[in-house]
Amino acid sequence: MIIDGKKEAEILRHEIKKEISLLKGKINKVPSLSVILVGNYTPSEIYVKNKVKKSKEVGINSDVIRYPDDVSEKEILRKIIELNEDSEVSGILVQLPLPKQINKEKIINLIHPSKDVDGFHPINVGNLASGYHAITPCTPLGCSLLIKKIEKDLTGKHAVIVGRSNLNGKPMAQLLLKENCTVTIVHSKTKNIKAECLKADILVVAIGVPNFVKKDWVKEDSIIIDVGINKVENKIVGDVKFEDVKEKVKAITPVPGGVGPMTIACLLKNTLECFKARLI
Ligand code: GUN
Repeated sequence: MIIDGKKEAEILRHEIKKEISLLKGKINKVPSLSVILVGNYTPSEIYVKNKVKKSKEVGINSDVIRYPDDVSEKEILRKIIELNEDSEVSGILVQLPLPKQINKEKIINLIHPSKDVDGFHPINVGNLASGYHAITPCTPLGCSLLIKKIEKDLTGKHAVIVGRSNLNGKPMAQLLLKENCTVTIVHSKTKNIKAECLKADILVVAIGVPNFVKKDWVKEDSIIIDVGINKVENKIVGDVKFEDVKEKVKAITPVPGGVGPMTIACLLKNTLECFKARLI
């Protein structure tokens, strides 16, 4: 079975749109997302363009604040303070990567946790790890929603996550632990990645290497979630060798049309959550 992330994202966006429309009717206010974009790195430009487009479609106001590549860290920090204090702003997102003169850690730490739609602030990371309510990073949240569409109860499943980034691997592990999975994280320094992948009932791959996971790395009856977005000879491919693997497994996400659309839908979901939390 091929998991239709595009369709699932559409369903989620439709629910978000409905809720925003209801709220607008009641209080005459809508969520607002501020995006900080530094430089002109093409993938970031594309991501931000999509985030703005999809925000608009569900009724979220968005504002892109652009800076040149050589902007000072101080200027970005000043803008974040301003956005933190602005009661009209529901969510703040600083698109990554940032140029080297800007300390990512300082930026992430300054965004108010209640406006941190990416879920990268240590308060949100800590709450997620503690099993408390947290704003959850959009990509792993999207992955977990797709997995739950295939399998409602994940108790006792062996989940293997390939990649240990703060964006994907680590929060994905926390989400799957919450679902009572047995979780293994493998990464570039793991001794035998293939042997670990072969144990997976659920395999989430976010390592950024095209066609990294092959057919003989996966179990029949497993669920494969491919987070990779790699450009190879002008084509976008994932981290899993899709054409071969799809024949063997129970369910797999395609690239494109799998995790990608869910990531943006989850950003809209997080923005709405931040907006609602502010109303209480
Ligand atoms: N760059 C690539 N993915 C992401 C993301 O999810 N959030 C932000 N802020 N930057 C990114």
